[in-house]
Amino acid sequence: MKITLIYGGKSAEHDISILSAFSILNAIYYNYYEVQIVYISKDGQWLKGPIFNKAPESKEVLNLTLKNAQPILPSDIKEANSVIFPVLHGPNGEDGTVQGLFEVLGMPYVGAGVLASACAMDKIVAKQLFQQVGIPQLPYVSVIKRHYMNEKEAVLSECEGTLIYPMFVKPANLGSSVGISKAETKEELIEAIENAFKYDRRVVVEQGIEARELEVAVLGNDEVRTTAAGEIVKDVAFYDYESKYIDNKVDLQVPADVSDDVHLKMQEYAKKAYIALDGSGLSRCDFFLTANNEIFLNEVNTLPGFTQFSMYPLLWEHMGISYSDLLEELIQLAKLRHEKKQAIELGQMS
Ligand SMILES: Nc1ncnc2c1ncn2[C@@H]1O[C@H](COP(=O)(O)OP(=O)(O)O)[C@@H](O)[C@H]1O
Ligand SMILES: [Mg+2]
Repeated sequence: MKITLIYGGKSAEHDISILSAFSILNAIYYNYYEVQIVYISKDGQWLKGPIFNKAPESKEVLNLTLKNAQPILPSDIKEANSVIFPVLHGPNGEDGTVQGLFEVLGMPYVGAGVLASACAMDKIVAKQLFQQVGIPQLPYVSVIKRHYMNEKEAVLSECEGTLIYPMFVKPANLGSSVGISKAETKEELIEAIENAFKYDRRVVVEQGIEARELEVAVLGNDEVRTTAAGEIVKDVAFYDYESKYIDNKVDLQVPADVSDDVHLKMQEYAKKAYIALDGSGLSRCDFFLTANNEIFLNEVNTLPGFTQFSMYPLLWEHMGISYSDLLEELIQLAKLRHEKKQAIELGQMS
């Protein structure tokens, strides 16, 4: 059986994706699989690299260029007896678009499907879904560019009427903290909204809080399993792109030092959120926890960072599932979902 490992991508999380891919290449069970690597360059070109039958010696093998790899069309990844493992984050990787390609090609793939990917990626749609199933979230106002341009003062009054400073302003459809800023005053709010519009036509203005950040890992298709929560221990107030990926100013604590009650509540909300999104494969659910133990769901990531040192695999390791076994579970879940879907399609035809 073959695994087609797709990594890189056009998003800001290109480099973390390469690290995740390298971890996967090191840990996959080569007695079952060979691994075909496919790299998506920062400008969106798809390059087909070598096939691996054992763990590579260095990360360099993942640096594909036109010189050492073959340019392909996205649809060229279609192959019998192969499962796709997309380890792509952000737009075009985690938002359902590439998942749509896999569906059209009729190939099994690891992780969430089109709907869950798209809904989780969109901060406005995701909030609406979570609201509907009663998961606590921070108050927010959604702002559409066209409406803002026509009625700027009304929009600002709505924000100031619903929320108190500081507010967090986020493009609806991005990730890795790009385009996000914190506003302490009306002037800053205007600046933050207009900055966020550089990335998306739809923006969320959210109540800012001081809180700990905890994350729960979810695994499964129809049967959903969750882990205890882990904590991102920060020495910076705003977990931005720099601190997340460049300065490495965060420590992960697994399990988080919180009461059993908090762990249980977060697991319950994580499961509810996953089901509301129609999740499958995996997701990481990110929460805020205030000093008086109030819990708010922040977001669900359908393709969380996946290096050996990332929160998602660490949470499962704590539950007794090794990184290699986790990869195997994800591949099996991908195959199962695909088989079930095919069975339904066959049933409809007969
Ligand atoms: N309402 C908020 N109050 C306080 N901090 C926030 C708030 N929203 C986001 N943050 C900080 O910004 C980071 C990135 O925001 P998040 O919504 O997770 O976006 P992304 O999709 O880019 O990860 C969070 O991990 C947190 O540190
Ligand atoms: Mg986040």
